[in-house]
Amino acid sequence: MVKRSGCDISNAKITGFPTSFAAPSLKPSFAAVAIGVQNYTCGSTGTYTNVGAVAELFDISCLYGSSAFDTIQDAAIDIWKIAPPIFPAQEVIAILHSTNTPAVLGQHYYVTNPLTGQGVNPKWDFTSQGANAGNSNAFVVAAKVTGVSAPTGSQDIDWVDLKALTGSLAQEVYRTDTREGQPPASCTPGSPMISVKYAAKY
Ligand SMILES: *[C@@H]1O[C@H](CO)[C@@H](O)[C@H](O)[C@H]1NC(C)=O
Repeated sequence: MVKRSGCDISNAKITGFPTSFAAPSLKPSFAAVAIGVQNYTCGSTGTYTNVGAVAELFDISCLYGSSAFDTIQDAAIDIWKIAPPIFPAQEVIAILHSTNTPAVLGQHYYVTNPLTGQGVNPKWDFTSQGANAGNSNAFVVAAKVTGVSAPTGSQDIDWVDLKALTGSLAQEVYRTDTREGQPPASCTPGSPMISVKYAAKY
């Protein structure tokens, strides 16, 4: 069993829930705002392909119902963007780790697909912080079902609907209220991986 943390959001609804997304089969347990990076490599055709992400997740369940809940992704991206380059994502995450603030729910990153051993899938890992610290089942590795363009514009990464593959944290994960994270439109083949800052709700 994994524990809910923060406030009860079992009746919460996602504002602007895309019609193409599968409706949740369970009541919501967690609400997070994330800051992190989306990573891209440059393909031989001169366009970027997403190869993963790393982000820190903060509990926003207790903000549900307030105007701060609706706008927190704007505050998150604004702060994150002005963080000096000496604070890359891993550094910020490491600092937040060491403070063990109860507001940190966990981390989001990519792992090898646990079912096929091929390719990578996103993981949400709450095993080292918050109410579920030390619970080795408090994670979910998921696979994308659908994505839709962000309603806020092409500078923001897609909203996505994901289904669990392994782990006890959740059956469904939704990425919504995205801010930024898109790669440049073109690149020079052979150029190194880039990390683009983003914020979102999960
Ligand atoms: C993404 O890039 C960050 C550095 O910005 C790195 O720490 C992380 O391991 C990368 N993750 C993936 C899956 O590429």
